[in-house]
Amino acid sequence: MSEFKIGPLNHVGVAVPDLEAACETYRSLYGATDITTPFDMPDQGVKVCFVNLPNAQIELIEPLNAESPIANFITKNPKGGQHHVCFEVRDIDEAVVEMGKRGATVLGKPRIGAHGTMIVFVHPKDSNGVLIELMETPVGAH
Ligand code: CO
Repeated sequence: MSEFKIGPLNHVGVAVPDLEAACETYRSLYGATDITTPFDMPDQGVKVCFVNLPNAQIELIEPLNAESPIANFITKNPKGGQHHVCFEVRDIDEAVVEMGKRGATVLGKPRIGAHGTMIVFVHPKDSNGVLIELMETPVGAH
């Protein structure tokens, strides 16, 4: 077994029915002041923004349409809910190979994520019911 291991927690993904309303919750209830401008990721069927915290981010995700992978989650969780947890890795290809060797199910192929670096998801069944996102550390992030 290689010495592959996850790095820092990068963000917690939270699916929401209304991105602007969710941002307002973080502003007015929790006093968050550093929230990025929402942007669409049409290929993924989502609209995304980040609540920047001193040690990590909250990724707020709204489905763009009924075909969005997030739409089903919102149907089951109409008020929204925690969707995934994202850890940084040095090399996404190494991560995919190692997940396979360790018996985990990687969902699809690595692709460009909301931070502009490669990401991949690991099935919740492999991690106590939590969907895990592995993301190559953005250059200059640490
Ligand atoms: Co994410």
